[in-house]
Amino acid sequence: MAELPIKFDDSAAYERAMRRWSRAVAPIFLQWLAPPASARWLDVGCGVGVLAHTVLELGSPATVVGIDPEVAQIAQASRGPAAGRAAFQVADACRLPFADASFDIAAAALVLNFIAERSQAMAEMRRVTRGGGSVAAYVWDFAEELSPSGPLRRAMRRFGVDVPAIPGTAESRIEALRSCLSRQRSSESRRELSRSAWRTRTSKTSGKRRRQATAPRRRSSRP
Ligand SMILES: C[S@@+](CC[C@H](N)C(=O)[O-])C[C@H]1O[C@@H](n2cnc3c(N)ncnc32)[C@H](O)[C@@H]1O
Repeated sequence: MAELPIKFDDSAAYERAMRRWSRAVAPIFLQWLAPPASARWLDVGCGVGVLAHTVLELGSPATVVGIDPEVAQIAQASRGPAAGRAAFQVADACRLPFADASFDIAAAALVLNFIAERSQAMAEMRRVTRGGGSVAAYVWDFAEELSPSGPLRRAMRRFGVDVPAIPGTAESRIEALRSCLSRQRSSESRRELSRSAWRTRTSKTSGKRRRQATAPRRRSSRP
């Protein structure tokens, strides 16, 4: 079945149709995550800023940053109830403009299924989160039509309408999310293994060269 192309460039329409649902699910997520206070949060695909606002209300964060590639969503988030307390900026989850380990928690609310390069986005979330921090995400289960538009879509199908699929429907299943996460974990551990193998090799073979390279250079007595 064809996928319904969805753009998030109309923030007023998003507010009207989706905000109440985003608003209803965000506190449930926070309750489940039970985040520590004073955390540095990154809200990935923040849209109009619902999760960022919920974190400010319920999560006692140190800082909250929200990113989204859609200029209209960021503009709306910047005028919304989190304005002045959270920082919003245009950015893509697959190329996060932050240094490694900049955050304690990186969360993506109702976003991952809309990102084609999902593994890359998760790797980026992992990179910008400190060791021991949390990388977390939730999506509607579109595969089971467990989303706000699910009842309408099911009813339309009963009337014979060929309803296009939401992007990333198959990937919205819990099993697909789990396998994406475990692929991520195993590539992390492969990276860690090759890093430590490299460290062992270099310390065995090039200790002398490294000592030479790091020895303080003698100042010349000449001007
Ligand atoms: C369904 S909305 C969810 C918005 C918000 N997180 C919420 O809970 O209401 C999906 C959001 O993901 C954003 N998005 C799509 N592709 C993205 C990407 N590559 N990186 C970051 N955000 C993306 C969209 O612009 C949109 O604002």
